[in-house]
Amino acid sequence: MTLWSSRDLRAATGGTGGADATGVSIDTRTLAPGDLFVALVGENADGHRYVADALARGAACAMVHAEVPGFGGDARLLRVADTLAGLADLGRFARTRFTGKVAAITGSVGKTTAKAMLARILAAHGATHAAVASYNNQWGLPLTLARMAPDAAYAVVEIGMNHAGEVAPLAHLARPHLALITAIAPVHVGHLGSLEAIADEKGSIFSGLEPGGVAVIPAEAPHAGRLRAAAGGHTVLSFGTGREADARLIEAESDASGVRLRARVLGVEIETSLAAPGAHMAMNATAAMLAASALGIAPREAAATLCGFAPVRGRGERRVLHVRGGEALLLDESYNASAPSVRAALAVLALQKAERRVAVLGDMLELGEAGPAEHLSLVPDIARDADRLHVCGRLMRLVYDAVPERLRGVWAEDSDALAPQVVADLSAGDAVLVKGSLGSRMARIVAALEEAAA
Ligand SMILES: Nc1ncnc2c1ncn2[C@@H]1O[C@H](COP(=O)(O)OP(=O)(O)OP(=O)(O)O)[C@@H](O)[C@H]1O
Ligand SMILES: [Mg+2]
Repeated sequence: MTLWSSRDLRAATGGTGGADATGVSIDTRTLAPGDLFVALVGENADGHRYVADALARGAACAMVHAEVPGFGGDARLLRVADTLAGLADLGRFARTRFTGKVAAITGSVGKTTAKAMLARILAAHGATHAAVASYNNQWGLPLTLARMAPDAAYAVVEIGMNHAGEVAPLAHLARPHLALITAIAPVHVGHLGSLEAIADEKGSIFSGLEPGGVAVIPAEAPHAGRLRAAAGGHTVLSFGTGREADARLIEAESDASGVRLRARVLGVEIETSLAAPGAHMAMNATAAMLAASALGIAPREAAATLCGFAPVRGRGERRVLHVRGGEALLLDESYNASAPSVRAALAVLALQKAERRVAVLGDMLELGEAGPAEHLSLVPDIARDADRLHVCGRLMRLVYDAVPERLRGVWAEDSDALAPQVVADLSAGDAVLVKGSLGSRMARIVAALEEAAA
């Protein structure tokens, strides 16, 4: 079915050319036939070099702002002044024609997890469009909007930031009916300077709310008052553990593989269980149920739909590894790391019934001057929750040197150097947690473990 008529493509972007498209892609590796291919210019690659490939793979048309050799007069080229701005134009147009409700999620941790939870609840009530992975930046958000079917009932989008001033423009593009802040924590603090600045940056999502919109905030977060103030005249709902929270997590009981939780959501007591352990998962669920309820879904139905929720790939996914003499459990947290999320993951590691609880940690990046202290703050958690520690990276070296001797496994320069040593150390009965910032490339260790266990 046509998602973008060539007429709408031109109307949205002010460009020329183009053809009807059934989807939107920025990457030829994941392009589907019929897609519009948008030739973005990135730090490492220029999408214009992949236009011929995209068309050969069945792209209906390609958005470009530069000449593509061999395609001079090709009508399939949608010519615009700038492809990143063109993608934002598509996002704006798609949002304007969208007839459903939009929920936007930001926060220091848990955005993608909360997005997956909320999307799961909403999808039980109507067609729901959700962002892929963590598509939350200046191309990820517009791409998410551009892919949205105009008549879906709901859309759930993620808004992220690395630097001050990035959230508000994305929020104005998304124009959500509901905006949810998951948590405020010192993540990306290197670029923002202080926790207060982080709260203000997250709070700026509310400037994009539609009239009559709802702001959902973490009641006990640092600077929650600033978040409330940022919501201006909009309705504010909060989630937390305190009595005054509109959604109150009353009880969360984790075992090795999940959490049972009891909460009171807008006055209704609910119970559910997730196939993802940890109080942080229970709190994300409480936030998602509150958001769904604010969008008109009964809290009990939200709780029932959420039952059995399992972590998103790279964010706590559990997999069994077959190793000599038995099995080991892999907790794949390789997608990202910040102090709160490492702490949460270590707590989950501690719950595992294993011979050895092995933590494999890579550097948490983008912390600026706070880097060493944020890393060292993990030492007590590691000492309590893990039996063995392997690390890579310059900052994790500080942790390695500070943990009790009995925990110390291997330190290596980077994940490539560490991977074979982690594999060599793996034995039956282990529970292995792998976690680090995306830039620490801990996924390579996950891949090495899986390869060895195949
Ligand atoms: N409420 C929470 N508190 C602490 N850690 C959390 C919380 N929710 C999720 N996590 C953990 O944080 C990590 C990142 O989760 P997730 O991908 O959902 O966050 P995100 O905000 O989307 O991250 P990104 O900024 O990379 O897009 C995972 O390890 C996850 O288990
Ligand atoms: Mg994310």
